[in-house]
Amino acid sequence: MQIIDGKAVSASVKAQVKAECEELKAKGITPGLAVIIVGDDSASQVYVRNKERACEECGFYSKKYALPKETTQEELNALVEELNNDKKINGILCQLPLPEHLDDKEVINRIAPIKDVDAFHPENVGRIMIGDYNFLPCTPAGIVELIKSTGVDISGKKAVVIGRSNIVGKPMAMLLLHENATVEIAHSRTANLAEVAASADILVVAIGKAKFVKSDMVKEGAVVIDVGMDRDENGKLCGDVDFEDVKDKCSFITPVPGGVGPMTISMLMKNTLTAAKLQNNA
Ligand code: GUN
Repeated sequence: MQIIDGKAVSASVKAQVKAECEELKAKGITPGLAVIIVGDDSASQVYVRNKERACEECGFYSKKYALPKETTQEELNALVEELNNDKKINGILCQLPLPEHLDDKEVINRIAPIKDVDAFHPENVGRIMIGDYNFLPCTPAGIVELIKSTGVDISGKKAVVIGRSNIVGKPMAMLLLHENATVEIAHSRTANLAEVAASADILVVAIGKAKFVKSDMVKEGAVVIDVGMDRDENGKLCGDVDFEDVKDKCSFITPVPGGVGPMTISMLMKNTLTAAKLQNNA
């Protein structure tokens, strides 16, 4: 078994983005990312800090808007509108989840599709479906890069995605389909889930349950991608896959932390660079 080093793959994506950013800067264009965070969710604060740090590494302009949890929908909408019209800002990201009284759909719908570096706007989601897109969603796109880094050819393989969220599961299945995999989406209501999972040459797990996938759910020699960010019984960070139980059965596996997480951020940088190029015809 080999561990897929998400930090290393992420570093090479960021190095490429940084090099392209320098070329843009030579033409007087600096990619800019605005990150909105509402409230004091501690996991979100860590993610946002990491996104800011990545912007710095790549040479981007970045601006964080940390709003109090009492922020109203109208205030949030007004900020998005302001950022849509801000020439210095090429990408707008509103960290999810939002506090309960705020509607994430309403915010996402208001982000100009050309600045939607998360690729969450319905226009961008639809464009991904038909294969005519500017942006790919960060986590699924990062996972495709991780799988490709192993040298395993995705084309013709059986891929199973466990989880059907709009952020990961559904777009993940679509991107694997674009890579010519035969794709099955499984979820909490799937009958014979273990059997379905064990049919996968490529297994992507995004179900949000600590150490959910055990070795009986993994095919010998499979590539296993763990999107989970969970806590085990001792409060220690772990994934949706029971790494110790599964590691000797698969050919490649992503660790948590240090697998998918760093890739999500580097793909965000890539999307922000793309946004800056598109908005400047560069
Ligand atoms: N919350 C968890 N993942 C993400 C993501 O990729 N983008 C945003 N905006 N919020 C998230």
